[in-house]
Amino acid sequence: MPDQYAVIGNPVAHSRSPLIHAAFARQTGQDMVYGRLLAPKGAFVATANAFRARGGRGLNVTLPFKGEAFHFATELSERARAAQAVNTLKFEGDAIIADNTDGVGLVNDLAGNLGCAIAGRRILLLGAGGAARGVIEHLLKQQPAQLVLANRSLEKAQRLAQSFRGAFEAGTYAALAGRQFDLVVNATSASLAGELPPLPPRVFARGALAYDMMYAKGETPFLAFARGEGAALLADGLGMLVEQAAESFFIWRGLRPDSAPVLKLLRQTQDA
Ligand code: ATR
Repeated sequence: MPDQYAVIGNPVAHSRSPLIHAAFARQTGQDMVYGRLLAPKGAFVATANAFRARGGRGLNVTLPFKGEAFHFATELSERARAAQAVNTLKFEGDAIIADNTDGVGLVNDLAGNLGCAIAGRRILLLGAGGAARGVIEHLLKQQPAQLVLANRSLEKAQRLAQSFRGAFEAGTYAALAGRQFDLVVNATSASLAGELPPLPPRVFARGALAYDMMYAKGETPFLAFARGEGAALLADGLGMLVEQAAESFFIWRGLRPDSAPVLKLLRQTQDA
């Protein structure tokens, strides 16, 4: 029987992860299957344990269970600890080994697929929820010149900065007036609601990259705004999705798939 993996979430029907992992498995000749697991809210642990009991080898965890997966783990990577959230579980005997590959996924998409250096650059991160928290540690590791985080709720932004011992600056959108950045990453959930974070004009420096962690068929309001503001390069989160999956695949199978053809395949199905 092939090794069993799945993405667990609620909802999960829309997830592209089965397509991505099937492509990775084909490419690397791995005998595995990867499905979707819908967990009722409040039944994450029961659903994940039932999957384990059936011989499941690993799970990707998506909304709204990344925090519950963090508490479910018996072993946490440094990345999962910093993010306080888990998107990858590996089952080995009694051990539930947990990691978070979102940060490395973002950085590999930026540096690899988009050719955008992070070291020495001024970075603006929008949002102070789980999506922002998941990538901060890895962005800081690349040694940007600055990392500034903006959020509508100042208190939430400050609490997040404190939990990283003040390793970055946190403030409101209004406080960004007059400042410029080389990379602006939207980690808010605004795009989901078709909304735009209240950015002041002229935050994009010459040659800046605008990155929306969300992906949608059309342009998100954030990317449309960035285009109007003259951002040089626009990117959605599809590349991050493929790169975080590649890292999960590596954790499970010990092999690094080639992400480029899989990203191309996803773009083709997205545009179809
Ligand atoms: P998640 O864990 O998925 O990131 P969350 O914890 O609900 O979700 O966080 C959502 C983030 O998106 C928050 O930073 C939120 O800002 P506030 O904390 O100020 O509410 C941000 N957000 C949502 N809609 C937004 C909008 N229209 N404009 C700006 N920020 C928005």
